[in-house]
Amino acid sequence: MQDLLLKISYLIGSISFIVGLKMLSHPDTARKGNLYAAVGMTVAIFATIFLYTNSEGQPLGNLIWIFLGLIIGTVVGTMAAKKVQMTAMPQMVSLFNGMGGACAGIISIVEFKHLMHAGTIEGEELKALTILLGLVIGTVSFFGSMIAFGKLNGNINDRTLPGQQIVNVGLMLIVVVLLVMILMGGIADPYVLFYALLAVSALYGILFVMPIGGADMPVVISLLNSFTGVAAACGGFLYDNPVMLTGGILVGSAGTILTILMCNAMNRSLVNVIVGAFGGNKAGGAAMEAGGAYKEISLSDSAVLMAYSKRVVIVPGYGLAVAQAQHICHELEKVLEEKDVDVKYAIHPVAGRMPGHMNVLLAEADVPYEKLLEMEEINPEFANTDVVIILGANDVVNPAAKNDPASPIYGMPILEVENATHVIVNKRSMKPGYAGIENALFFQPKTSMLFGDAKKVLQDLVSELKNM
Ligand code: TAP
Repeated sequence: MQDLLLKISYLIGSISFIVGLKMLSHPDTARKGNLYAAVGMTVAIFATIFLYTNSEGQPLGNLIWIFLGLIIGTVVGTMAAKKVQMTAMPQMVSLFNGMGGACAGIISIVEFKHLMHAGTIEGEELKALTILLGLVIGTVSFFGSMIAFGKLNGNINDRTLPGQQIVNVGLMLIVVVLLVMILMGGIADPYVLFYALLAVSALYGILFVMPIGGADMPVVISLLNSFTGVAAACGGFLYDNPVMLTGGILVGSAGTILTILMCNAMNRSLVNVIVGAFGGNKAGGAAMEAGGAYKEISLSDSAVLMAYSKRVVIVPGYGLAVAQAQHICHELEKVLEEKDVDVKYAIHPVAGRMPGHMNVLLAEADVPYEKLLEMEEINPEFANTDVVIILGANDVVNPAAKNDPASPIYGMPILEVENATHVIVNKRSMKPGYAGIENALFFQPKTSMLFGDAKKVLQDLVSELKNM
């Protein structure tokens, strides 16, 4: 009976993950989806604690330790999630993801010791391989995520070693050799080989994320996320635990799909990410020297220009999120629509600092989802657009991505705003964006700068428009 209840709980857990993940694909249902998956996970955890018995029929011991861990984790996780700024989410995702990787690595260390109690792994090669894969992938994920956290938080700078890619490929080969040596047995002390594997995996995790910079960090975070999923799936396989296996596979596959989509969105190759040959060169090319004269536009001129337009496209970016200007941005859209202006939003896949950042932000302000157009949909429409207003976006509209091969963002598809009749850029200064490079768009004849904090500027624009 107890076993049946455990299986039913695991089934509930697994189904809730799948349903939750499906619901995450639309902003209207995303919150609920997250909640369903969390409830499913809670059911699975408590079922394991209270219903699980091992092959000898003994229940789980160490309940005090388990509950201590649960309480500390719940308190720290809840506080961190409540405190975090929306713009610091990628760092937090990276940190939490690293914790998942560390768990998988620690499980492997403990289970390797159990396995070695018999003195040899002969006859248990599949189990040993699962443990070793969990160790390698979990360790890479933990160390890589910690470096990613430090970089996103501004504590660690991009650094490339001479011959970095060769070193990384070399480290991967050493991992494979050590894995084979442990599995074959009898070549050297298995514990020495095991801890060497741990050390090399840690080094690889650090070195492969270290040089990555510029606009490419999100791809790496998503990849590390999928690593953690695979490492957790190894744990599920090891313990014959279906809910851990389902969860791990879902995270692993969803992370991989997201990584590939982002690579495509940024025109980067996945192989380059894995060997750590990715972005990071902030030296820049000709675009660094983009400069010259730019012109400013007043609030009232901007209001007039937009009010007498047929079609306006809003391009939201990271600055809109920092300024928390999403609600007033929706106001602007409504005021313009009252004046018979057709308003749409152009959403670049990596605008902001995390996947779907702009969609979530605008959904929070009740902007209708149909108004958000993906880059491929909106790009052909810029030619028929009277005014594009860019709110705190920079890299995602930088033409250097198209025409400067020396630029670190070269090859990334961009929003082709320069095809519109007028471009208004709102930001606080002429400072560069995330990739640290100048933007020639700001100096083009059809572009006008509207300086100021996005929220303040939008509030003033809305009152100008209302008074017209
Ligand atoms: P960015 O290129 O970072 O530009 C944002 C601009 O907003 C800055 O130039 C800044 O200029 C302006 N800004 C900052 N605070 C502002 C405020 N309060 N009011 C008005 N403007 C403000 O942003 P983007 O165009 O959205 O591009 C995103 C970048 O982040 C890309 O390079 C992308 O690859 C990278 N990234 C993306 C992700 C994902 S998955 N979305 C994750 C990590 C990194 P001022 O300082 O002059 O105001």
